[in-house]
Amino acid sequence: MPQLEFRQVERRFPVKRDLGDVLARRGRVWLHAVRGVDLAVRRGEILGIVGESGCGKSTLARIGVGLQPADGGAVLFDGRPLDGPDRAGRLQMVFQDPYSSLNPRMTIGAQLAEVVAHYQPQLSRAARGARVQEILAEVGLVPETALKFPHALSGGQRQRVSIARALCPGPEILVADEPVSALDASVQAQIINLLKRLNRDKGLTIVFISHDMNVVRYLCDRVAVMYLGEIVELQDSAALFAAAAHPYTRALIAAVPDVRRSQPMAEPISGEIPDPFAVLPGCRFAPRCPLAEAACQAPQPMRVLGQDGLVRCWKAVPAA
Ligand SMILES: Nc1ncnc2c1ncn2[C@@H]1O[C@H](COP(=O)(O)OP(=O)(O)OP(=O)(O)O)[C@@H](O)[C@H]1O
Ligand SMILES: [Mg+2]
Repeated sequence: MPQLEFRQVERRFPVKRDLGDVLARRGRVWLHAVRGVDLAVRRGEILGIVGESGCGKSTLARIGVGLQPADGGAVLFDGRPLDGPDRAGRLQMVFQDPYSSLNPRMTIGAQLAEVVAHYQPQLSRAARGARVQEILAEVGLVPETALKFPHALSGGQRQRVSIARALCPGPEILVADEPVSALDASVQAQIINLLKRLNRDKGLTIVFISHDMNVVRYLCDRVAVMYLGEIVELQDSAALFAAAAHPYTRALIAAVPDVRRSQPMAEPISGEIPDPFAVLPGCRFAPRCPLAEAACQAPQPMRVLGQDGLVRCWKAVPAA
């Protein structure tokens, strides 16, 4: 059984938009941020979710930890429906901006102790303090960090603290939404290695959201690629980077600057900028796809790819 499972998860947002046409009844249209996502997160893996800005990664992440409801489909945690944040804190999230989860007016030690106390009220004050120190050590911070305020820390240290905060309840799954995107490259590597260690040493399942293909390649066991609210490819990381099947995934990989090249290898994607409002019955990437043909206008179901992959492209997997 998957540890966390998305089943046909949907999320739409009502947005005001001046379309200037009859579609915009009272200026309100629906933006379909997540559409029919099926995804099974396996216990102990690091699953990457990649895709361009606005493709629905954060929305899916928030739904996955119960911070936001889906308006269609279901999320199952250990086989049971998740209807809000898990009371025992078994699902935790880390955000791009560590400030968002830290209180600027409390010392690091006090705010971590507060979280520990919430989930383990039976602990004595001394035991709580010891637990905080244990967690600080786990994320590579010195004991004195407990006495500091968030503003006194570097960006990397603050992100370590927000990971520490997420570890306080003793989670089983960590969903990290662009946790290193705001950090310098050298600091990024340290945080990535910290996540890798937490996964290896504690068996912590990690869902890692990023638009940095290099980081995903280094860190993740499997990778899901999203395009305009849909998953278009899911593969073992090694297989994906060796032979991406979906033209969109190939474009994402081709756009990665290589240390041996100063310029990206190819013009990554042609065609129009994706329009999240566009209603397309078939492949949503088709308007930008170099391989698109008439048949791509038919609905594209996920097709089985190799041993353990899925791809939403009829050209990638020829009909049996
Ligand atoms: N509360 C909201 N109200 C209206 N639209 C929203 C809301 N939240 C997200 N959206 C829209 O839903 C789409 C998906 O947003 P989301 O933040 O999930 O994308 P993302 O993949 O995380 O992007 P990024 O890489 O920029 O973080 C976007 O078009 C966004 O504008
Ligand atoms: Mg996001």
